[in-house]
Amino acid sequence: EGSFSQKLQVPEALTFDDVLLRPMESRIEPDDADVSTRVSRNVELTIPILSAAMDTVTESDTAIGMAREGGMGVLHRNMEIDETVAEIKRVKRADELMIRRDNVVTASPEQTISEVDRMMSHEGVSGAPVVDDDDTVLGIISGTDIRPFLEVGETDTVEEAMTDEVITASEDVEAREALELMYDYKIERVPIVDDENQLVGLITMQGVLQRREHQEAARDEEGRLVCGVAVGPFETDRATAADEAGVDVLFIDCAHAHNLNVIESAREIKETVDADVVVGNVGTREAAAEVVDFADGIKVGIGPGSICTTRVVTGAGMPQITAIAEVADVAAPEDVPVIADGGIRYSGDAIKAVAAGADAVMLGSYFAGTEEAPGRVITMNGKKYKQYRGMGSVGAMKSGGGDRYLKDAAEDEEFVPEGVEAATPYKGTLASELHQLVGGMQSGMGYVGSETLPEFKQRAEFVRVSSAGQTEGHPHDVMITDEAPNYSPE
Ligand code: XMP
Repeated sequence: EGSFSQKLQVPEALTFDDVLLRPMESRIEPDDADVSTRVSRNVELTIPILSAAMDTVTESDTAIGMAREGGMGVLHRNMEIDETVAEIKRVKRADELMIRRDNVVTASPEQTISEVDRMMSHEGVSGAPVVDDDDTVLGIISGTDIRPFLEVGETDTVEEAMTDEVITASEDVEAREALELMYDYKIERVPIVDDENQLVGLITMQGVLQRREHQEAARDEEGRLVCGVAVGPFETDRATAADEAGVDVLFIDCAHAHNLNVIESAREIKETVDADVVVGNVGTREAAAEVVDFADGIKVGIGPGSICTTRVVTGAGMPQITAIAEVADVAAPEDVPVIADGGIRYSGDAIKAVAAGADAVMLGSYFAGTEEAPGRVITMNGKKYKQYRGMGSVGAMKSGGGDRYLKDAAEDEEFVPEGVEAATPYKGTLASELHQLVGGMQSGMGYVGSETLPEFKQRAEFVRVSSAGQTEGHPHDVMITDEAPNYSPE
């Protein structure tokens, strides 16, 4: 008797707006706050930010931009497996010090000057190694070499115009050595050769300088940009292909990972791949306990997303601050990173997520309006927007990926969606959005007096906010006249 009414003795679950960080004694200047972190057991990031695996947020352009700024993009999975592989390779190649053989534009000694001139301008390069049929490097030809021939000797061959004393290096050359070679010999490109003098790649001045621009980039052991990818809970083929393509982190992408079939499958995937495997989404300590022994990271979020209708459609969910804290209670002692996914609108939300126990945060809507996000800019009433849709929306499920919601999307046209399709204001570049996001998080660390994220996570305390307190926390009793880069009234 009374067991049903006992159900109403409910625990309270809180979200971002329910809490604030308690200001504390500090000597930390925000700019000095170090936000580096781990997204999974073996993958480190310079900033604790991930872009969501959604088809209006992360394809290779976003992933490249994210990694260059020190974070990580997680490629969505509404595409064929070979396209996933191509996307991963695009990210991995983007900032590679050495351009690999297949992508190096080469000339042959018999080509005429006018042919090679046309080829170089077509390919957008200003020089090319000259190789014979065996790929042996014979020389190098550049715009400077061919210019004298262009008027008088267009039918002369490359062999006559090329520089045949080529400065080459071996594959283990480091960026600094390559640059020194280029300075010493006043050259702009160094062919990389194997023991037989066969071409394996090319290092260019432009490539080295481009990498220098992104000192803080998140890179793998080989210096390539890091990349994540979403795979369906039962998509072992995509997982294997992505792993072979060199992805750093596989994200088992499920709206409810506390499903025992999903966990079994995730465990199997983990056993077969080299990449780290992050499991999600979960929102409770019980779910975390089921996966903490094998997962390289745990992703948290049941229904907090901006385009998400899971909570209203299914009646289930967990306010995000409480969800993060419950999962972190289980994951932190095992040293497994926690990723807070969804519901983050402001930098303040992101740093609150860390205070609740997250090591990194994942955002969708925040990045959907950037130039790098897939999709075109649309204009409505003179304002610019980009499309943003939930992966559980009808449109996204029709393009695949309904299994995120454990539905058989292929056969069932009558979806029960858990997300909406929307438009979000166009925002400019990813880099400027990240600058605001990270800057705000660093300022939060300043208010709490912590120089590193792990320290902040331990030290930060919350206070509970009433609805009057929430109103007080936003601009009030004024009319905003100029848009701030990090605040839009909702
Ligand atoms: P934000 O708030 O950053 O959230 O836009 C992005 C996260 O939302 C999740 N997501 C969904 N959740 N229905 C849901 O219930 C959906 O259709 C949907 N699509 C994405 C996902 O975890 C994403 O990272």
